[in-house]
Amino acid sequence: MRKNIVAGNWKMHKTHTETLALLDEILAKKQDTPAEIIVAPTFVNLKAAQDKVAGKGITVAAQNMHQAEGGAYTGEIAAHMLTDINVKTVILGHSERRAYFHESDALLANKVDTALKHEMRVIFCFGEELKDRQADNHFNIVEYQLRDGLFHLEKKDWVNIVLAYEPVWAIGTGETASPEQAQEMHAFIRNLVAKVYGNEIADNLTILYGGSVKPDNAKEIFSKPDVDGGLIGGASLKAEDFLAIVNGF
Ligand code: G3H
Repeated sequence: MRKNIVAGNWKMHKTHTETLALLDEILAKKQDTPAEIIVAPTFVNLKAAQDKVAGKGITVAAQNMHQAEGGAYTGEIAAHMLTDINVKTVILGHSERRAYFHESDALLANKVDTALKHEMRVIFCFGEELKDRQADNHFNIVEYQLRDGLFHLEKKDWVNIVLAYEPVWAIGTGETASPEQAQEMHAFIRNLVAKVYGNEIADNLTILYGGSVKPDNAKEIFSKPDVDGGLIGGASLKAEDFLAIVNGF
């Protein structure tokens, strides 16, 4: 059964104190929703966030993790360190990781394998840059990102995969893909997955849209048949805005 998800990626924002305050506000104001609510604070705040929301209808996710099991990798975090504090969802392949930390599709395929080995759920991000869309190459780019990052997986693995289509030109720019552009790409992605893995996996796959989703455009974007929710950056940093987006379902 395909699930609706609204995930807040807090990126490198919010101190420990601010993280707890934001979660308090979200917990106090959230209403019943058919969507799963996910928040992804920074690593140093994961444990406190997880402890605060445990059993209260909010999932905590990590924004990244290393592909190795552990060892001499200064500054990195391994999968078992996340699962040990009950963080079992991880965002991988965000365009900021790809661009600023040079994460390639091959590296991401490794990270996905490690996460799945640890029975984690992966929110796998991908999307084209502006130049790709202008050159009408966006479908090709997305297809390659999915083939190289995920299409080595077995059918059974897909139960722990959530896709997040994030056109890079729409991230933090205030420029959103139109609901029609989002739907067009999401339908393309679902068809592609269906061709490779069959209809059942494709139909049950949650595909999120990310890129300048705000309270005033969320409902229309989420109303599209192949858009199952959103990965929210800037607008997830205020409880009121984030919950207004969640209420878009
Ligand atoms: O992970 C979230 C995306 O990068 C979207 O960020 O909502 O600030 O455009 P944004």
